[in-house]
Amino acid sequence: MVLMVTSELEAGSQNSDTETSPSGSRSVIANSRPRLSVIVPTYCEAGNIGAMIAALDASLAGIRWEVIFVDDDSPDGTMKVIRSLGESDNRVRAMRRVGRRGLAGAVIEGMLASGADIVAVVDADLQHDEKLLPRMLSEIESGQTDLVIGTRYSQSGEAREGFSTARRLSSELATRLSNLLLRTNVSDPMSGFFMIRRELVDTIAPNLSPGGFKLLLDILASAPAGVRVREIPYVFRPRRVGKSKLDGLVIADFVGLLLSKLAGNWVPPRFFLFALVGTLGLVVHLFALRSAIVVTDASFNTAQIFASFVAMTFNFFLNNALTFRDRRLSGFQALKGLLIFYAVCSVGALANIGVADLVYSHDTTWWRAGIAGALMAAVFNYAVSSAFTWRR
Ligand code: GDD
Ligand code: MN
Repeated sequence: MVLMVTSELEAGSQNSDTETSPSGSRSVIANSRPRLSVIVPTYCEAGNIGAMIAALDASLAGIRWEVIFVDDDSPDGTMKVIRSLGESDNRVRAMRRVGRRGLAGAVIEGMLASGADIVAVVDADLQHDEKLLPRMLSEIESGQTDLVIGTRYSQSGEAREGFSTARRLSSELATRLSNLLLRTNVSDPMSGFFMIRRELVDTIAPNLSPGGFKLLLDILASAPAGVRVREIPYVFRPRRVGKSKLDGLVIADFVGLLLSKLAGNWVPPRFFLFALVGTLGLVVHLFALRSAIVVTDASFNTAQIFASFVAMTFNFFLNNALTFRDRRLSGFQALKGLLIFYAVCSVGALANIGVADLVYSHDTTWWRAGIAGALMAAVFNYAVSSAFTWRR
């Protein structure tokens, strides 16, 4: 993939055209489409919505815009706040998603529901500098650029306020890694602040992963050759109110996404997490097997069965907390899920033995047969688990 990246050096190109009707008044033409759709993903941001709309209103004066808040059914009443503010302002739209969680997925759906030819993505907590929006818009409208990224650190190097040291270091590492692996070349591929042509979104949407925080990275990796990217630096502000939803687990999503893109989109990111959990499960299995043999004087077979249940239980809860955390089961559903998972894994184990046996009958290299069997079981367990254990 080839990306042409330029950096914003000259800051002068402020957009000056305003949407005035022939009579010269500022009234908005009825039924006309917005020029810019701003997508704001929200999860528990009730306290920021009002300030967010006011900030957009101030910085986008003279531009016909709409904002689409995409809320994942926040328990704090975010949606209520959006609805009530939207009652008196038809630029404010709201999408409520139920039974789903995920920043990237929310943004993708918001972008696909947008009314304008150009869409921007901005966080609700006012960490991004909305005053950049008019400049980003004129960049794209000039016809020279397809994607403008608000970059938190660039040559000017000033933009680090809202970051802790640990967060900054891991972010830098992730940036290096993704630029290296995905052959992109942007200074902040993890930015959540960008503007893009709607057309381009429509083209690549089917290839985007709805999990995780790394939508821009995914867009960069999925974009067709020749997409013109430009970066504009800004100061990343501290969050206004509320707290960050980015936790340690998003690192795992990130690794899954990288591997998935490297594998050419054929394997979903989630599978890599599932396989990772499975590998850990093997370690747990061996440990439990050894303990059972040493501590009790159970026969090997009894110890095997015991170890299998320990490993399956371990895998179930880890997958529930990590791999399928957007569909996490709790209470009675978790118990039911666990039982289904045992059943799935048992069939998976039979598939493992069957395939390994088949391969071994053609090729007597024990480890090739072993790997083939394990892979078969992993794919089977993954496919059936996502369809039944953690079905939507
Ligand atoms: N709909 C929806 N669903 N929105 C979500 C979800 C979700 O599951 N998780 C987070 N959001 C919203 C938040 O409400 C906020 O508006 C925005 O997404 C960013 O979430 P934060 O929790 O504020 O993230 P952050 O500030 O820690 O992370 C920032 O840096 C990341 C890279 O380091 C953001 O700019 C991210 O976009 C960026 O990827
Ligand atoms: Mn934030």
